[in-house]
Amino acid sequence: MAGRIKVAVIYYSATGITYQMAQAACEAAGEAGAEVRLRKVRELAPDEAIRSNSGWQAHRLQTQDVMEAEPDDLSWADVVIFGSPTRYGMIAAQLKQFIDTTGPLWARGALANKVYSAFTSAATVHGGQESTLLSLFTVFYHWGGIVVTPGYTDPSQFVAGNPYGASHTSNNGEIPPDHVALAATALTAKRAVEIGAALKRGVTTG
Ligand SMILES: Cc1cc2nc3c(=O)[nH]c(=O)nc-3n(C[C@H](O)[C@H](O)[C@H](O)COP(=O)(O)O)c2cc1C
Repeated sequence: MAGRIKVAVIYYSATGITYQMAQAACEAAGEAGAEVRLRKVRELAPDEAIRSNSGWQAHRLQTQDVMEAEPDDLSWADVVIFGSPTRYGMIAAQLKQFIDTTGPLWARGALANKVYSAFTSAATVHGGQESTLLSLFTVFYHWGGIVVTPGYTDPSQFVAGNPYGASHTSNNGEIPPDHVALAATALTAKRAVEIGAALKRGVTTG
């Protein structure tokens, strides 16, 4: 009996755009039959930096009850979906810091053979959406993960336009994810769950 597929959606968001995508990923994973954990990574920025940006401050308060990610969330999950805003074309340092706590899990092979996928948001169209996702995929390759992307597996992807994973252009947090970005996020999550479930069934039944 393969059991219910377990999905961890682990994200960082300063001003709430990536958080909205994380919520869409959780909803889609749940609809696809998964047991879902939503986890934010720990904030590392100094209080004065957060206080200087009202959107950052407000989002921090809004999500104070979201549980922080722990390495156990990775070992628990069959499928891990990461979300991060673009930071100079890469993931946010807060998410990287969490990733850098996974050495013991990696050393005993506990991160291998899971399904991984990702989503991101950026201020501008060519501001690094693809490079952010690709930089995260490099981590998955080191872990021995199975990277699942939306590709162009649904007609909606010809509108969303990013085959590497869901992404959204927020104009520095001014524009919330629209139906196109949320649909791409849902597709990314749904595919990760479907491939993860098939893999789990296959491994369990031999
Ligand atoms: C330090 C820093 C670096 C950023 N670098 C980029 C960048 O290289 N390209 C880009 O398009 N947006 C960049 N942004 C904008 C954010 O990626 C964008 O506003 C994102 O949607 C914010 O997501 P959040 O609300 O989840 O924090 C940067 C923002 C910050 C604070």
